[in-house]
Amino acid sequence: MTTSIPITRTTHSRLTKELREKSPFGTNYSDHMFVADWHDGEWHDARIVPFSPMSFSPALTAFHYGQALFEGFKAHRTGDGRVAIFRPMANHARLNRTAARLAMPDVPESIFMDGLLELLRTDREWVPHRDGSSLYIRPVYFGTEDSLMVRPANRYRFVIFTSPGGAYFSHPIRLLAEETYVRAFPGGTGSAKAAGNYAGALLAAKLAQAKGYDNVMWLDGKERRYIEESGLMNIMFVINGVAVTPPLSGTILHGITRDSVLTLLSDMKFPVEEHAITVDELAATHAAGTLQEAFGIGTGAIIAPIACIGYQGHDLTIPIGAPDSLATHLRTKLVAIQTGREPDTHNWLVYI
Ligand SMILES: Cc1ncc(COP(=O)(O)O)c(C=O)c1O
Repeated sequence: MTTSIPITRTTHSRLTKELREKSPFGTNYSDHMFVADWHDGEWHDARIVPFSPMSFSPALTAFHYGQALFEGFKAHRTGDGRVAIFRPMANHARLNRTAARLAMPDVPESIFMDGLLELLRTDREWVPHRDGSSLYIRPVYFGTEDSLMVRPANRYRFVIFTSPGGAYFSHPIRLLAEETYVRAFPGGTGSAKAAGNYAGALLAAKLAQAKGYDNVMWLDGKERRYIEESGLMNIMFVINGVAVTPPLSGTILHGITRDSVLTLLSDMKFPVEEHAITVDELAATHAAGTLQEAFGIGTGAIIAPIACIGYQGHDLTIPIGAPDSLATHLRTKLVAIQTGREPDTHNWLVYI
């Protein structure tokens, strides 16, 4: 695969300042998308075309047997007017780990990175200017064989499209420790960004929302005791001056924001422990007054302070929003790096 990707430009750009700067998360898409197809053991026809619907057979394998995965990360305008993508290679690596778990072919770097860079150059004007805004990047990869056979598909499509998003105000969230449903279990697909993981999580979130929570806090699949993730994010607690986060045990997603936060904490020489913690142990730290902070960590909100965790009929109320909180510090620091206002000492930015 060479780097020259044919581009069919739209003749009807939808770009307006309003759409670019004021779109709520995930509601509008930029003018173009990158598409590549895999069949006969090879990648074919990498191309940039106007963003548009696609038509498929009702027998599409992804619909029936769930060979479908996605990724999510962001591009920002930097202080000097350039556009930088945050850690795309980490998303590429995670995409291929998910693909391997779902018995799908690797997406080579030449397809992923060249397609991504060319797409962002084509739709550069869609990257928001406002502070806190970004262009969200959504790769999606799925089986496209027209067949009811239960086996890995023999055709696949890989698409990247983008969506401008306004500032994401991460209001403090309320979580409910989920004791009935589980997101993942040992040997399952919990560490993969498989589309099916999200379908399996929707009911629990919906039931938690009906009780006044924003989402669930997932517990482990075997004993329903160990804390795993915060709804759609990784989770971290500050207990007695130590940042505690569940380890990558195989059932939680390897968050790229989590990894970035752990790197920043190590730079700061802030004490960190990656260890399993039960919800009862957490409740005990709350009772002892040593639970100082809790927050979700993920691409969308970056850091989302957790104000409350519901568990067995009681709400544990957690302090939030102090200007000197670790959550505030980490969020400020990460945004400053993503927007080029602080040196990118870990080479996380890829300029388009
Ligand atoms: C289930 C789940 N956990 C964690 C994360 C955080 O991952 P990242 O920091 O790569 O966005 C996400 C978001 O992508 C997620 O969907």
